[in-house]
Amino acid sequence: MISAIVCCAEDYGIGKQNGLLFDIPADMKFFVEKTRGKAIVMGYSTYLSLPKRPLKNRLNIVLWDKATSIDCLEGCITFNNFDRLLYFVKQLAAIQEVVICGGASIYKLFLEHYDKIYLTRVRAVDPEATAFFPNLDNRAEFVLANSSSVMVENGYKFAFLEYDRRK
Ligand SMILES: NC(=O)c1ccc[n+]([C@@H]2O[C@H](COP(=O)([O-])OP(=O)(O)OC[C@H]3O[C@@H](n4cnc5c(N)ncnc54)[C@H](OP(=O)(O)O)[C@@H]3O)[C@@H](O)[C@H]2O)c1
Repeated sequence: MISAIVCCAEDYGIGKQNGLLFDIPADMKFFVEKTRGKAIVMGYSTYLSLPKRPLKNRLNIVLWDKATSIDCLEGCITFNNFDRLLYFVKQLAAIQEVVICGGASIYKLFLEHYDKIYLTRVRAVDPEATAFFPNLDNRAEFVLANSSSVMVENGYKFAFLEYDRRK
């Protein structure tokens, strides 16, 4: 299975200045739970934004146009070509979950391949956002399968949503 995990504002904003928009510890915990022991895929900018890299207890896969070999970032598998990455991800996804972790450019590249999207919806908008997740509001191929109750942390109201690809 290929999934995406993302934390979005109401307008699908996900980041600014190569950082996140919201500090929500419960969402970080959710991210760890959903990705632990799995393969994760990210773009080089998101990789650089990690406080500690690679993320432990996960297979870290990074798309970076300047990657010179498959192991040029310590502890990661690197690709410099999306088609080759997609081929690898599909092979892996046949035997385990592969989670696409961003950022904006990588979420968009994989959009037609998601079986599931874990989307933390924050009831706020940051006008300074520069990175966005694809707008799912008018995408008939994804159906809302699950939604948590609304929670509040650090002054942010949010809920954990799960979208599945329509069969
Ligand atoms: N809210 C969330 O859940 C969440 C999760 C992850 C990230 N984010 C945020 O998203 C933002 C980063 O997103 P982003 O879109 O700027 O960066 P990104 O997707 O993380 O990474 C972009 C990198 O990937 C490379 N790349 C992209 N497509 C490629 C391709 N087809 N072939 C080879 N290399 C390719 C780019 O190369 P080039 O330099 O040549 O373009 C660039 O180095 C940050 O603000 C981050 O905090 C938010």
